[in-house]
Amino acid sequence: MIKKCLFPAAGYGTRFLPATKATPKEMLPILTKPLIQYGIEEAVEAGIHTMAIVTGRGKRAIEDHFDRSYELEHQIKDTSKDPLLAEIRALIANCTFSYTRQVEMKGLGHAILTGETLIGEEPFAVLLADDLCSCGGDNVLQQMINIYEKYQCSIVAVEEVPKEQTDQYGIVVGNIIEGTDDTYRIVDMVEKPNPKDAPSNMAIIGRYILTPDIFDILRKTKPGRGKEIQITDALLEQAKQGKVIAYKFKGKRFDCGSVDGFVEATNYFYGKRKALK
Ligand code: UTP
Repeated sequence: MIKKCLFPAAGYGTRFLPATKATPKEMLPILTKPLIQYGIEEAVEAGIHTMAIVTGRGKRAIEDHFDRSYELEHQIKDTSKDPLLAEIRALIANCTFSYTRQVEMKGLGHAILTGETLIGEEPFAVLLADDLCSCGGDNVLQQMINIYEKYQCSIVAVEEVPKEQTDQYGIVVGNIIEGTDDTYRIVDMVEKPNPKDAPSNMAIIGRYILTPDIFDILRKTKPGRGKEIQITDALLEQAKQGKVIAYKFKGKRFDCGSVDGFVEATNYFYGKRKALK
């Protein structure tokens, strides 16, 4: 069973400067909800109620968001605005939130290792809130948990990206697992390869299920691309033992860490909301 979800949320979000100078990227809203709330809701829908968040300097707004705000709540009580807080109230009531700080931003792998203290010795999910996903049926995390239950090893969600974009992603090479059309056993992976050197166009997106041995591997992982400790490099060690599955998820992903993806997501969710009204 996957009981905990880790949210690495310590990055600087430089692509959104100056908006992210004093506001965490994870708090930027798509319509009226911050990105990280979508992520927490996805985890809850997948049956997870223990949230572990890796933050950093200037990210205190995330903690405040997942807490009561007595003055505000008192102010809008019994007004038409009160229901606007219903979703966040339900999350606060149904989840626990723990935080730890990444003191130096040494990469995603390092952020995940920083979260060890909140996770312990059990398999766990990782969700990068700036990858916002929309699915018709089961959400991406739920789809991945279903795959984990079958294979009991690390799982990464992948999608095919245009070849010229491979230098923005961890790229995997895998062998299709017989009897499936969406599940691959990874044999190689490389962080942000130049398009001309990329071994495939299958890109890892911001959803992972990791087995806890990843922490020991991360401890030994040397800084790689961009001098950061890369989760891709650590996963390659597991992959060498045949213990990483790439899963082509069903659904649509928006890269809300980029301005284009953020605007696309905003338009998409606005269209969806309009259609409901
Ligand atoms: P990104 O590569 O999107 O980096 O990180 P970033 O700093 O957030 O954004 P840009 O590129 O400067 O605009 C991917 C995820 O990993 C987390 C980020 O918070 C984001 O969720 N991360 C990255 C950390 O938590 N710590 C790090 O040291 C690096």
